[in-house]
Amino acid sequence: MSDNMFRWEQDGDGIVTLTMDDPDHGANTMNARFIDDFSETVGRIEAEKESIKGIVLTSAKKSFFGGGDLKSMITAGPGDAEELFERSMQIKGRMRALETLGVPVVAAINGAALGGGLELALACHHRVMADARGAKVGLPEVTLGLLPGGGGIVRTVRMFGLAQAVPNILMSGRSFAPDKALKAGLVDEVVAPEQLVDSAKAWIKTDPEPSQPWDRKGWTLPGGTISDPALAGVLPSFPANMRKQTKGAPSPAPRAIMAAAVEGSQVDFATAEKIEARYFVSLVTGPIAKNMIQAFFFDMQHCSSGGARPKAADGSEIPRTEFTKVGVLGAGMMGAGIAYVCAKAGIEVVLKDVEQASADKGKAYSEKIEAKALERGRTTQEKSDALLARITPTTDPQALAGCDLVIEAVFESPDLKKKVFQEIEDIVAPDALLGSNTSTLPITDLATGVKRPEDFIGLHFFSPVDKMQLVEIIKGEKTTPETLAKAIDLTLAIRKIPIVVNDSRGFYTSRVIGTFVNEAIGMLDEGIEPSTIEQAGRIAGYPAAPLQLSDELNLNLMLKIRDTAREAAAAAGEEFVEVSSDRVTAKMVNELGRSGRLAGAGFYDYTDGTRAGLWPGLREAFNTSPDNAPPLQDLVDRMIFAEVLETQKCVDEGVIVDDADANIGSIIGIGFPAWTGGTRQYARNYAAPGATEPSGYKGFVARAEELAAKYGDHFLPTESLRQAAAEQG
Ligand code: NAI
Repeated sequence: MSDNMFRWEQDGDGIVTLTMDDPDHGANTMNARFIDDFSETVGRIEAEKESIKGIVLTSAKKSFFGGGDLKSMITAGPGDAEELFERSMQIKGRMRALETLGVPVVAAINGAALGGGLELALACHHRVMADARGAKVGLPEVTLGLLPGGGGIVRTVRMFGLAQAVPNILMSGRSFAPDKALKAGLVDEVVAPEQLVDSAKAWIKTDPEPSQPWDRKGWTLPGGTISDPALAGVLPSFPANMRKQTKGAPSPAPRAIMAAAVEGSQVDFATAEKIEARYFVSLVTGPIAKNMIQAFFFDMQHCSSGGARPKAADGSEIPRTEFTKVGVLGAGMMGAGIAYVCAKAGIEVVLKDVEQASADKGKAYSEKIEAKALERGRTTQEKSDALLARITPTTDPQALAGCDLVIEAVFESPDLKKKVFQEIEDIVAPDALLGSNTSTLPITDLATGVKRPEDFIGLHFFSPVDKMQLVEIIKGEKTTPETLAKAIDLTLAIRKIPIVVNDSRGFYTSRVIGTFVNEAIGMLDEGIEPSTIEQAGRIAGYPAAPLQLSDELNLNLMLKIRDTAREAAAAAGEEFVEVSSDRVTAKMVNELGRSGRLAGAGFYDYTDGTRAGLWPGLREAFNTSPDNAPPLQDLVDRMIFAEVLETQKCVDEGVIVDDADANIGSIIGIGFPAWTGGTRQYARNYAAPGATEPSGYKGFVARAEELAAKYGDHFLPTESLRQAAAEQG
C-alpha cells in the first residue's frame, strides 16, 4: 500500500485523509496507475469502513486533479472502442462505489479541478473548495471535442436538472472560480486554503447522511424530466445553444453531450452511466477530438510556455528579461491597445503620437476599458488608478529616455516606420528591443532603417489587442537569438501567447487569412450568391463569415496591400498573380464606394455602425444568381484548403518552423475553424466529411486535386504534401 498514489492517514477521530500524489507526474490524472490505486483504496475503505468515520479526499499537487489521460486519447482509433468503454465503466464503477459505501466523503479541493477532477469531486457527498490562486472547477471537455466521461453528465444532470446542467455547465465548458462555483452550487463551501482539511473534517463531524440525493427515497430529477410541461418551455433553446457552441461546425461533442444528458435523465443511474460511456467512446475514437486535443492542449502548452525560446549561439541559456519601461509609437487603434496590455502587466508606458490630442485619445482607450472593468467588479479603484498612472501620453521623443523596449504602431508605411525609429534610437536604452507591429511589411527591410538591426524584431499584435491572445513574433535576417528571447519574454509577461515565424511579406497569419478572404470574395466574381458564401463560411466553423470579415478588415486596406505587393514584385522582377478577388475589391472600392464597416458601407449595409444585412445591390453588381449553386461542401473546402495550402507553402519556405505555432496561430489569431485543430493538423489528420476514420495526407491530396480540377491550379497540392501522402504508405 505504501506506493499507492492515495496517501492514507487516519486521525484519532477515525477520519481518513486521502492525499492524491502521483509520484511520476506533476499532476494527478486518470491514467492506468490512478485506476489501480483508486480501486485498491476504495477496496480498503470498504474493508475497514466500520472503523472509518469519514473520508477527506485532497491532493498534494498544486492542482486537485488534472483530468483525463489526453496522451492516450490522441492515439485511440475505432478499434479501441470496446477497451475504452470498459475502462470508462471501470472508473465510473469505482466512483459509484465511493458514493454508495455508506461512509461520508468530502472533496477538499485545494486547486484546479477541471474535467475528471470535478467529476471525482462530484462523486463525493460534499465539496469544500480553497479560495486559492488558480483554484477553479469546471467541465471543459466540450472545448476539446469531448464530453465528461467520468460520470460528469450523469451527476450534474441529477444535481441541477437538465435546464441548468446542459447549457451552463456541460455545453459552456466554463471554469468557475471559487465564488462563482459556490454560487452555481458546484461546491458547498469556500474557505481559506489553510482551513481546507479542517473544514472538510468539521462537516464529517456533523454526522451527515452518507449518500447522494439521487440515491435517497422519493428523489426526483430537479426541474423535472423532459416529459414535464415545465421543461417543455426550455428544451427548444437547447438546439439553439448547441448551434452557438459549434457555430454550425462539425464538432460532434455538443450534440453527444445533449443526447447523453437527455437520454440519461430518463433512466436509472447505472444505465445513464453506460449511455454516457458510449457517447464518450464515440467522440474519443473520432478524428475531431484528436484535432482539438492536439491544438488546445499539446500545441497550446508548447506555445504558452514559450516553447520556441532559443538558446544563445554558444548553446548557453539566455537570461530572462524583465521590462520596466516601454515606448509605444503611434497611439491609434493598435498603439492604444498595446499600451493598455503593457500597463496592465505593470510596465511603465510612454505613448507617443504626433499630436498631444491623439496621444491623449490613445490613453482614453485604457480609461474606457478600466471604467468598464470597475463597473463589473473586475478590478479595484486602486489597481485601476495605478494602471492608468503608468501610461504617459506625449509628443516628446525625449520622454522615451530609458525605455528598454520600443514598439511602433504608426501608419503602414515603410518610410514612416523607419523615420520614427531614427527619431528615438539614440534616446532609448542602448540595448532596447526595437519592435514593429506591422502586419505585412518585411522586417528585414524595416531593420535597414535602424543602427542595430540585430535588436529589431516584428511584434505583430491582433485587434482588439486587449482581447486577442496571440502575438506573432517575426525574426528578421539579422535578428539575434537574444532579441527573440526578449520578445518571447515580453509576450509572456503581458500574458499573451507567442508564435515565432521567419520573415516574409505578410509573415504567416496575414498571408494565410488573405487566401481565405480572397477565395471567398472571388466567389462573388463567379456569380455565387453572397448569402451562400457567408453560409459556407459559417458551416466551415469560421467565427466570422468571410464577407463580414472583409468589411471589418477594410477593402481599402486590402487593395493597398495588393498594390504594395505588386510594386514589390515588379521591383524584384518577379511575376505577380492577379486573383479574381482583386476585381471584386477594386469595383467595390473604386466604383461603388463601399470599402467596409468603417465607411458605413461594404458587402453589408450598416445603420449607425451596426451591421444591418448583406447589401442587396451585390446581386446586380456581380451578376449573382441562386441558380449558380455549386455543392456547398465545395465552397466550405475551398476556404479551408486555401488556408491549409498557403500554410504548407509557409512551411516549405521556412516561414513556419513549428507545427504548433502554425496550429495555434491559425486558430487564435485568424479564426481558422477550431474543430480542425489548426492549419497543419487539418492536413495531417484529414477526414472527409462524415468519415469515421481519417485518410490523412492521402485524402487531403486527393481532395485538393479535385478542387484544382474544378476551381483552379491554386488548389494543386505542393510537392511536399504529395511526398507526405506517399510516405503515409
Ligand atoms: P491607426 O491609423 O489607428 O494609428 C496610427 C497612429 O500613428 C495614428 O494615431 C497616427 O497619428 C500615429 N502616427 C503617425 N505618424 C506618427 C509619428 N511620426 N509619430 C508618432 N505617431 C504617429 O493605425 P492602426 O490600425 O493602429 O495600425 C497601426 C499599425 O499596426 C500599422 O502598421 C498596421 O498595419 C498594424 N496593424 C494593424 C492591425 C489592425 O487590425 N488595425 C492589426 C495588426 C497590425
